Amino acid sequence: MSKSSQPDPRPEEETVRVEVADGIAWVYFNRPDKRNCMSPKLNRQMMRVIEQLEFRDDVQVLVLTGEGAAWSAGMDLLEYFRMSEEAGLSTVRQSQREAYGWWERLRWYEKPTVAMINGWCFGGGYGPLFACDLAFCAESAQFGLSEINWAILPGGGASKVAVELLGFRDAMYHAMMGEHLSGPEAAAKGLVNECLPDDQLRARVIEVCEVLKKKDSHALRATKWAIRRVREMTYDNAQDYLIRAQEALNDFGGWKMRKEATRQFLDEKAFKPGLGAFDKSKVS
Ligand code: ACO
Repeated sequence: MSKSSQPDPRPEEETVRVEVADGIAWVYFNRPDKRNCMSPKLNRQMMRVIEQLEFRDDVQVLVLTGEGAAWSAGMDLLEYFRMSEEAGLSTVRQSQREAYGWWERLRWYEKPTVAMINGWCFGGGYGPLFACDLAFCAESAQFGLSEINWAILPGGGASKVAVELLGFRDAMYHAMMGEHLSGPEAAAKGLVNECLPDDQLRARVIEVCEVLKKKDSHALRATKWAIRRVREMTYDNAQDYLIRAQEALNDFGGWKMRKEATRQFLDEKAFKPGLGAFDKSKVS
């Protein structure tokens, strides 16, 4: 019989790896031996890492991906569930806060975020999946709400993510059957934006990041927050919110940006808004 799993002895700082290059912060779930499942240590480190990156001038886009064969195999059944439960209710609550905390921070991140799903993505992994603004997966990626397979419900937001991203029947089937979806199936059903051959995934994500980097960062932030906010509003409330949000954007350099963009289109005829972004480097 194989040996039963032991807690990961590695220090907290090693559970997440970061590289910053060309304006992109590559953040890796870094527990490949444990299929990058989320332990309390990883959750605490992830919060620290994303907080540090959020206001760095050399970071324009954040990409969340996994080291090795997994994106994230969900919550750590040993360290997040069994050990927290053995320690008692307050430890359970603390572990939940630590996990939910960084997913929330990422849902309302100042900068655009992209999930690059390179492998397994299960259960609790749907929290950070939904938290990222855009998502691209490899053909070999596998997605599943496996909770039902070990007798729990999809908690920690996973049920909400399923109904947000999938149609009702698909969400119900996905949650009740515990079957996994392949990368192409996940893209067809809307869990991710696109599915790419494994060897083209990174290049496509870089291509998307390069487009995002050219946009006005304040307008991008206002846009991504608007898309998240209006999901839960009536049409009239959304319209009103969008007027206020645009007016707030105007006060943070927005007038200068749009005046220059309009000038480049109408007067200079240097770009067409329908076909790409204006040259923001011309705004002093
Ligand atoms: N929690 C704790 N340990 C995990 C988890 C997890 N979610 N996922 C993988 N591991 C550990 C395994 O126990 C094993 O550890 P060990 O070296 O101590 O034995 C190691 O990671 C490697 O895992 P394997 O199962 O050997 O890897 P394999 O590539 O064969 O399978 C797979 C990968 C399919 C992802 C499998 O590990 C698995 O089913 N994991 C659980 C997925 C899951 O249901 N997650 C929970 C979702 S529900 C929620 O998040 C609330």
